[in-house]
Amino acid sequence: MTATEKIIVLDFGAQYAHLIARRVRELSVYSELVPYNVTTAEILKIKPTGIILSGGPSSVYDEGAPKCDPKIFELGIPVLGICYGLQLMVSMLGGEVVRAKKREYGKAELKIDDNKSLFNGFGRSTVTWMSHGDAPVKLPRDFVTIAHTENSGHAAVRDASSKLFGVQFHPEVSHTPQGKEILRNFLYNVCKCNGTWTMESFVDKSINKIREMVGNEKVLCALSGGIDSSTTAVLVHKAIGNNLSCVFVDHGLLRKGEAEQVVNAFENLGIKIIPVNAKEAFLKALDGVEDPEKKREIVGEEFIRAFTDFSREHGPFQWLAQGTLYPDVIESAGTSGPASKIKTHHNVAGLPPWMEFKLLEPLRELYKDEVRKLASLIGVPREIIERHPFPGPGLAVRVIGAVTKEKIDICRSASAIVEEELKKANLHDKVWQAFAIVGDDKAVGVLGDERKYGYVVTIRVVESVDAMTADWARIPNEILEKMSNRITNEVPGVTWVTYAISSKPPATIEPQ
Ligand code: XMP
Repeated sequence: MTATEKIIVLDFGAQYAHLIARRVRELSVYSELVPYNVTTAEILKIKPTGIILSGGPSSVYDEGAPKCDPKIFELGIPVLGICYGLQLMVSMLGGEVVRAKKREYGKAELKIDDNKSLFNGFGRSTVTWMSHGDAPVKLPRDFVTIAHTENSGHAAVRDASSKLFGVQFHPEVSHTPQGKEILRNFLYNVCKCNGTWTMESFVDKSINKIREMVGNEKVLCALSGGIDSSTTAVLVHKAIGNNLSCVFVDHGLLRKGEAEQVVNAFENLGIKIIPVNAKEAFLKALDGVEDPEKKREIVGEEFIRAFTDFSREHGPFQWLAQGTLYPDVIESAGTSGPASKIKTHHNVAGLPPWMEFKLLEPLRELYKDEVRKLASLIGVPREIIERHPFPGPGLAVRVIGAVTKEKIDICRSASAIVEEELKKANLHDKVWQAFAIVGDDKAVGVLGDERKYGYVVTIRVVESVDAMTADWARIPNEILEKMSNRITNEVPGVTWVTYAISSKPPATIEPQ
């Protein structure tokens, strides 16, 4: 969707560059990441209200260090450099950056020398969070220092025109308590934003945009029953009514009872769903495949095959609507600069080249928590909003190694137990995702008086805000014990149960 006001964040590879964009959105201004080497011609097309240069792991004096187009600083568009972004701006404009005598990491008291612009409304000092080994020792001509710390003589700087700013610390992290105020000052005092990015405005703009794009053509929505595709369906339905048809493909890799729940929830909304049984085709295509990326590719391709067959029979449909979100795009492609591909989300990079549909992805710019807000606003049923996220490739990525009927059944039944026990303990809605994983590891157990060599099932429960980072949930031992007992007693073929205690990073939420 085009927004009139937009802040672009040039991504120099900081692990949390996307946090900057989130904070800006929380301040009611639309923001997105772009690659660090975006050209000024491209920027002029985007027409951003302001530019933020993110941090990054490099040193500006390293050979091959990522640099932005130098003309960015001459566009008259306000720029805020953060950490590496500040160092880069200083060095590209004629100042000097060196390895600091003392690395600054953690909390630092920032002494404010100039209470205007970025620090408008601040007292004499504030706490900031630092993480840097380099620092400017000489500023470019026309630059002045507006704040310093004990170890950083130039912890915040601006140029004479008050358009170019840099801060050595990280205003986007919660450890900088007034960081949001600093960003607010940049947006509203420096960039003169009006703050028009709200969910209500997003809905209006999206509906208009969908109507404009689609015209009188027909749209097929690939529903999975998760919040993303459901919200997409309701939004597109609001825009084009019965020119939308929703199809729900059962690929045999769904959670327990999922197909019935989804069809019922949508019937209550007055949106008809046509179920398609494609279990055999998916399982045949996945037969013997062990590589996780290959599984994702196959599932992506089989989905499109199922939609194409459906379109031939009931269509034609020119458009395919998908609930792709911003993190899917980031993690699949590494949208921007030096960040690397994490995994191919089936609906982003797993699409086959022969696909004939045009893609309609109205949530492509949103984070998950933003989708939840949108979903409530447009009347997506609560039971769908509260469902845990579920990956498109389904149990195929929770079964490690080859996807067999036996392992799928174990994974599905054990996952249902994990979810049931969390619901009983009122913890289900407090965690981000909870499921079971099964691979090819086996371990010896005793069942009755008999030795049994069975599968090892791993329980995974995580807490998260937007799936970009996640922490393993500290579930009380008694509940884990109940889950373990029930899984070994009720799920045939399982002898051992373990609990995954890896957070993201370094792990990911799904095991594949
Ligand atoms: P990871 O495993 O990358 O997952 O930490 C982050 C979030 O994305 C979900 N996920 C997917 N969703 N298609 C989807 O629609 C996919 O291919 C896919 N892979 C992971 C995952 O469940 C978690 O919420």
